[in-house]
Amino acid sequence: MFQNKHIVVGISGGIAAFKAAGLVSQLRQHGADVHCIMTEHAAKLVTPITFGELSGNDVIVDMFANISKWDVEHISLAQMADLFVIAPATANIIGKVANGIADDMLSTTIMATKAKVLFVPAMNTNMYENPIVQGNIEKLKTLGYFFMEPEIGHLACNTVGKGRFPELDMIMEEMEYLLSGNQLLQGKKVLVSAGGTKENIDPVRYIGNRSSGKMGYAVARAAAMEGANVTLVSCNRELPVPVGVHAIYVKNACDMEKVMNEFYEDCDVAIMAAAVSDYRPVTEAMKKIKKEDCETLTINLELNPDILMGLGKKKTHQFLVGFAAETNDVLNYGKRKVEKKNLDMLVANDVAMDGAGFNVSTNIASIIYKDLRVEQYPKMSKNDLGKIIVGKIAENLSKR
Ligand code: C5P
Repeated sequence: MFQNKHIVVGISGGIAAFKAAGLVSQLRQHGADVHCIMTEHAAKLVTPITFGELSGNDVIVDMFANISKWDVEHISLAQMADLFVIAPATANIIGKVANGIADDMLSTTIMATKAKVLFVPAMNTNMYENPIVQGNIEKLKTLGYFFMEPEIGHLACNTVGKGRFPELDMIMEEMEYLLSGNQLLQGKKVLVSAGGTKENIDPVRYIGNRSSGKMGYAVARAAAMEGANVTLVSCNRELPVPVGVHAIYVKNACDMEKVMNEFYEDCDVAIMAAAVSDYRPVTEAMKKIKKEDCETLTINLELNPDILMGLGKKKTHQFLVGFAAETNDVLNYGKRKVEKKNLDMLVANDVAMDGAGFNVSTNIASIIYKDLRVEQYPKMSKNDLGKIIVGKIAENLSKR
């Protein structure tokens, strides 16, 4: 994603300026051509040599220092940039840009670019929450600038609050989102389910499965990157919600069915990536079942609704995608499922294989289409597989 992309990293003078070094290093390791512009205050906190070494390019601080080059540097950087990221962004640089002030190299270059600009604010909580700063952020957002939310945590001023520089992975993901996609699903409403349902036995115990939700989240992320309006119905709360995705949390199959049905009518694509429990306890004990009360315990189970089958039955215009986790005879079971559940596409994987299935970050999958055509894919990350699945959905939608 970052290979050969021109990224301008603007470093303003917050104490988190040292963390931008890690960001620059990661971007370069991912193949980006990174150019750093520092404010004079930032250059007092971290030496420009650090950013020069890490980026492999000259670092610009002073508007008039590189006069020997005789090109208008802020204009050439502004024009070549695929993406700008201002990290950390102080209240000062946010205020300047919001008010059209261009009095140093960073503010001038931001003003001159037509590339997307992502601000990563990091500052003291009171400063961040100051209505003037918030007003500037809102103004810039409405003008099309992008902002990340600072994290809550320990701050340099030895307090705990909102204002912390986000984890690098989160910034990289946000940047990837802004750089990516050909808007293949622009304007489409995509509904995705993810994770393993939990069926309560009593207030402390449940019947669950090994699904981590990672595959569903990867598909949701890929769809959002392609411009879709994504609703994610998730059983997991631990995973970070991908940028541009609206998450709704559910616990069990019946709740998931309700939410899926609510959004199905109006969606263009529905993807059931969740591992739904086939059974649930017939009764849920209201109090914890005590071992003193029973020597042996029998839990009677009843069948859960097959959500996907229900969606297949009432399908009108929707493109319906199912998942199948099998331990043997994957393609034959998969083909039968496509027909039985009236699917347009099924992503089948053999969960017994190394690097496939539950709770790992990779998968080995086959895609089976409505006409029972099969495409097989090698082992890859769930994020990459998510992109392939979304690409194939878009390709098939465009043929309709
Ligand atoms: O029939 P099987 O459970 O193997 O099919 C898996 C597919 O069906 C997955 O897409 C899963 O999300 C969905 N499913 C469902 N409701 C169930 C069980 C599975 O929607 N009760």
